Amino acid sequence: MRAQVLENTFGMENIQLREREIPPVLDHEIQIAVKAASLNFRDYLMVTGKYNPKLKLPMVPLSDGAGEVVAVGKAVTRFKVGDRVMPCFSQNWIGKRPLSDDMRKNTLGGPLDGTAREIMHVPEWAAVEIPAHLSYAEAATMPCAALTAWSALVTLNHVQPGEYVVVLGTGGVSIFALQFAKMMGCKVIVTSGSDDKLKQAEALGADYLINYKEKTEWAKEVRKITGMVGADHIIEVGGAGTLEQSIRAVRMDGVISLIGILAGSSKELNLLPILMQNVRMQGVLVGGREGFEAMCAAVAAHKLKPAIDETFAFADLQKAIRYLADGKHFGKVVVNVAD
Ligand SMILES: NC(=O)c1ccc[n+]([C@@H]2O[C@H](COP(=O)([O-])OP(=O)(O)OC[C@H]3O[C@@H](n4cnc5c(N)ncnc54)[C@H](OP(=O)(O)O)[C@@H]3O)[C@@H](O)[C@H]2O)c1
Repeated sequence: MRAQVLENTFGMENIQLREREIPPVLDHEIQIAVKAASLNFRDYLMVTGKYNPKLKLPMVPLSDGAGEVVAVGKAVTRFKVGDRVMPCFSQNWIGKRPLSDDMRKNTLGGPLDGTAREIMHVPEWAAVEIPAHLSYAEAATMPCAALTAWSALVTLNHVQPGEYVVVLGTGGVSIFALQFAKMMGCKVIVTSGSDDKLKQAEALGADYLINYKEKTEWAKEVRKITGMVGADHIIEVGGAGTLEQSIRAVRMDGVISLIGILAGSSKELNLLPILMQNVRMQGVLVGGREGFEAMCAAVAAHKLKPAIDETFAFADLQKAIRYLADGKHFGKVVVNVAD
């Protein structure tokens, strides 16, 4: 089988298409013929060595994928040949909370081999059935970005209809957050550095649009929109570079879900408003399988379709990662593994 392998040195140019042996299927494993994979910003950080410079190489990149079960081990009961599945990002995290380092560390696309390969094996407890209305390409966008947005809004913070949700930017996590928040009956404010992308967000249901390049003090706009109260939830993917505005934009007793560090990971900050406003700062790490299953049930009930920006051929993984790193995309970037 073919696999995209990050050879012995970090760098996008060191990802090479290789022929690999298929190992035997262990008793508790399912064998998946991967049809499609999708990219997360983490993949760019991982292959360039910025995520974990001590990561052991060689490694197969990418965390997200979807495919068909083509063989099962002797002890498998959850799946059968022919089932359509998505492997879980964190292979041993089942319930609501990550309770051990094992749950945090056994993740696809670093340190474990990821989804950029034609055949992969995962334990039967580490996969979820694909909602029937989704294609493999659509399903491949779900395990990491969608689940992170779901965890932030639903599992951890119990978003309520009518609440104001701010999503920062229009990347994978943020666009799922927009879609889920609309599904839950919220009013959604989207920020972006691009008016074109704001129009696309509007087409997906965004109620209010702010160009953060034109309105650098975008928290003021959020306060105006919310009658000077502030937003109930902020999907914070910028990190250090955007947190100050998020703290100003959130309402008393509101939640900031700290998800990403696209605009930096450290900065001096005035922490007083966080305690004086009873703000909850919630770190979010993807989520476990039960949350993934609950999210899929909601996605199926609402026939939600992910926003796919561009699809690349399997051989063009380097190009796909460069495209993501350039930040021109809206929503998700997909790689067609079975092309
Ligand atoms: N904690 C977790 O479990 C978890 C899970 C998934 C992702 N993440 C992290 O979350 C972040 C987003 O991931 P992703 O995969 O969704 O990334 P992505 O698809 O590459 O999204 C990037 C988008 O973020 C927006 N952006 C960049 N800088 C911004 C800023 N200063 N203010 C507002 N928006 C900004 C841009 O949108 P516009 O072009 O519209 O401005 C850009 O297109 C990354 O840091 C990633 O590592 C964390």
